[in-house]
Amino acid sequence: MLTSSLVVVSSRLPIDGTVTPDGVTEWRRDNGGLVRAMHPILRDTAAAWVGWSGRVDDTPTKLPDLDGMHLHPVPLSTADYEDYYEGFANSTLWPLYHDAVEQPAHHRRWWEAYHRVNQRFAEATARVAAKGAVVWVQDYHLQLVPAMLRRMRPDLRIGFFMHVSFPPGELFMQLPRRVELLEGLLGADLVGFQRPGGARNFAWLAGHALRARNTHRGIEYEGRLIRTGAFPISINVAEVETLARNPRTIARAKQLRADLGDPARVILAVDRLDYIKGIEQRLKVYRELLADGRIKVTDTVMVQVAVPSRQRVGHYRDLAERIEREVGRINGDFGKLGAAAVHYLNQAIKPPELVALYRAADVMAVTPLRDGMNLLAKEYVAARVDGGGALILSEFAGSAAELKHAYLVNPHDVDGTKDTFIQALEADPADNRKRMRAMRRHVHAHDVQRWAHSYLTALTGS
Ligand code: G6P
Repeated sequence: MLTSSLVVVSSRLPIDGTVTPDGVTEWRRDNGGLVRAMHPILRDTAAAWVGWSGRVDDTPTKLPDLDGMHLHPVPLSTADYEDYYEGFANSTLWPLYHDAVEQPAHHRRWWEAYHRVNQRFAEATARVAAKGAVVWVQDYHLQLVPAMLRRMRPDLRIGFFMHVSFPPGELFMQLPRRVELLEGLLGADLVGFQRPGGARNFAWLAGHALRARNTHRGIEYEGRLIRTGAFPISINVAEVETLARNPRTIARAKQLRADLGDPARVILAVDRLDYIKGIEQRLKVYRELLADGRIKVTDTVMVQVAVPSRQRVGHYRDLAERIEREVGRINGDFGKLGAAAVHYLNQAIKPPELVALYRAADVMAVTPLRDGMNLLAKEYVAARVDGGGALILSEFAGSAAELKHAYLVNPHDVDGTKDTFIQALEADPADNRKRMRAMRRHVHAHDVQRWAHSYLTALTGS
């Protein structure tokens, strides 16, 4: 088996398979956030990527290389998918890590699947990693992998990065398997988080639940030193800007505004359809602004894109129904013939169309209740090569720590958020341009290449 000196491990491989009419599967690069983040760094490095192909009970034995990267599929059965991915990852950890805005559920069967699948990922990684290789494990689906892998391959340098927010100790301590999860992460040499607060929560938990020693160098546990740190992830700025400058995008943005009835103002929201994104709270704000007469459908239009996600999980299904009902209610109450108050798209949007939407929007509202980072906020800023637009951003998105010139809101505060919407819509354009300039400077200086480079430099100590 060909081995690699750099191995990325994530729950999903960065590909999407489609079956052609003659039954042949064609694999294409997927456009998810993580892939778009990692691709520029790993391209042409002969690195390996270990992950699930996206097919249950039907694992391809071999996948074509992707821009020089070797892809190694890890199989998942239907039971694995239901209990590890939909269950433990997305019905236990996901809500718990996001302030428990929905009630986390605990089932022993889910934990067993999580353990079993993590073990499979660790074994697959151990097989493809060259001697002394650097392994970079991604996200909350795979928190047991670092320790499992270290037991099999003590020669490796193992990094872990948590893409989602890492919760306060009080919440984490609810997990029946908190000790195993912490020990899993402590198998890494470097545990990275989006924000310093995540690293602090983790260090506190290691001390509290495992009696690990916290020193200024890191966490000391079982004779090893585990370093932690904040490495805020970013986007491929050059890629977004190139798209944004493309004349086709500019024309499309114009067309989109025309399709919306050439309103004076377009407000845009784009989210995965997830209860952490604060979509319902934002619709409530919008409904009240319309009811108060502070916004009129005759001159302002809101576009809400909600990308379907985890659709078989109850909380997600219920949310989708509630949102559809509320959009219908708002349009029923405030719309006019030919002028909807909210244009709702419950579908995935391809990058060129998304960037055109960014360029068409006077205001983008990103108001999650809790979000590890939120890369869409950064994409919006990168797409505004014209210096226009305004960003409304939740304090509870990781990106708020960097995009300080956004209009920051507490999405739980309906009145405050309403006022901020009006402030952003009615601001002096010169003020909005100044804010956008400052945010663009930041995003430019902190793109995804820099993120990966700084993480890998810290991991390899070079
Ligand atoms: C978050 C996680 C990612 C995950 C993404 C989409 O951003 O950090 O690991 O891939 O959500 O979720 P999904 O369940 O569709 O992969």
